[in-house]
Amino acid sequence: MGELEPTILGVLISGTGTNLQAIIDASENGELPAKVGVVISSSSDAHGLIRAKVHDIPRFWVDRQAFGSNEEYDWEIVHKLKEFNVNLVVLAGYMRLVGEPILSAYPQAVINLHPSLLPSFPGAHGIPEALAAGVKVTGITIHFADQTYDTGPIILQRIVPVRQEDDEESLREKIRKTEHKFLPYAIKLWATGRLVVDGRRVKIL
Ligand code: GRF
Repeated sequence: MGELEPTILGVLISGTGTNLQAIIDASENGELPAKVGVVISSSSDAHGLIRAKVHDIPRFWVDRQAFGSNEEYDWEIVHKLKEFNVNLVVLAGYMRLVGEPILSAYPQAVINLHPSLLPSFPGAHGIPEALAAGVKVTGITIHFADQTYDTGPIILQRIVPVRQEDDEESLREKIRKTEHKFLPYAIKLWATGRLVVDGRRVKIL
């Protein structure tokens, strides 16, 4: 870790992988002192697996059905992450809860991305729920993962205004754009040793 050794990322996905793409692009453009060492998907048909293939990044679908418990499944993921010398795990649209095996193998080194201003609208429907609630601003949250969904110490948040004409699609588009900009930035903060966790608060040096 630190400024000399490039950080090796393990990116966990379940879907389209536009955030994975943003990380790959920032890394390839030299904007990020980190490279993606491995991509792991919980879903066989995640488009993010194709993105990894295009960039010649090792990628795996780890099938939950092949394991007897969530714990065994998470151990398999830890083995893969270790095999590729990962030191920071990024959950980029990963639709599963990461369990103790992953969290204890990577203390303060699992980052999650969420499409709302937590603690508002946690869970899988943050965007439609924000619209339905009629909020005038929503946004993105990047935080350290802990044992429950969307509750870990917050690294950074950015606001996305909700316009009267917004629907789910247009709001999702704006949120994704913001995520693509700030997820690489948060990774950079971690990779350069600028994040200090103090209880629930994360200081940026
Ligand atoms: C992102 O909006 C993220 O906030 C949420 O899942 C979405 C993943 O999008 N957790 P993509 O697969 O990176 O395009």
